[in-house]
Amino acid sequence: MSKKVLMINGSPRKKNTYSLLTQIQQILKDCGAQTEILHLSDYEINHCKGCDDNCINKRECAQADGMRMLMRKISDSDALVLASPVYLGGVTSKIKAFIDRTNIWFHNPEIAGKPILSVVTTASTGIKETKRFFESFTTGLGGRKGGFIARNGRSGRPVTEKELSPFLNALLSDKKKYKPAMNEIIMFQVQKVLALKSGGGNRKFWEEKKWLDKSYFYDCNMNIAKKAFAGVMFKVISKAMNS
Ligand SMILES: Cc1cc2nc3c(=O)[nH]c(=O)nc-3n(C[C@H](O)[C@H](O)[C@H](O)COP(=O)(O)O)c2cc1C
Repeated sequence: MSKKVLMINGSPRKKNTYSLLTQIQQILKDCGAQTEILHLSDYEINHCKGCDDNCINKRECAQADGMRMLMRKISDSDALVLASPVYLGGVTSKIKAFIDRTNIWFHNPEIAGKPILSVVTTASTGIKETKRFFESFTTGLGGRKGGFIARNGRSGRPVTEKELSPFLNALLSDKKKYKPAMNEIIMFQVQKVLALKSGGGNRKFWEEKKWLDKSYFYDCNMNIAKKAFAGVMFKVISKAMNS
């Protein structure tokens, strides 16, 4: 397998989360993937300033910091592993800042179709909440869900290849086989309506991608009922957002 997997550690330390990532890295390497672990703490990532229009319509953030390099690296990879320790029931502030700054990709989902694996470590609580947060991030980017791996910091239970199989399967399979879930189809329609409403660079991007009359980002495993559902959702969301 000649796939490139970028792994991102959202902890300020190179400890529990990093150790879990290195186990996942070893399995990926054994399967022939090229891997790289990046520590967000090594990068300057400013908070989003909320200027909105730059990322939505100009498709470029006004802030020239470490995000540019990180986003380039993600674009150049075949798949992403995103990891965070639980901090007060959620992700670390660094990874939240990183995710906020990917708003450009929420509106202009350039990396749609990449498999994303979410990884969490905790002392005990917050796994469910953090999982939900990472899943919603994945959906917003049009990523393919590559599973979820969590460990209690005290648990030395090793990661198995079986645990990693949703990610490996997504990595190795053609995205045409992907079956988007209802919430992923709805999110695509929301993003489409927003692009149509924006009228600027965001709409142009969707036009160039030829997504405006699509049921999902790319041809995939959607039956007639799901396609019909996508069409109905588009009408419902358009009406709600334009009223
Ligand atoms: C600021 C802070 C907040 C934390 N909040 C929680 C929490 O809400 N629930 C929990 O179970 N563990 C919490 N922890 C523990 C970490 O999630 C846990 O030790 C994790 O494995 C640390 O990962 P790391 O070694 O990669 O930094 C917190 C730790 C810190 C430093």
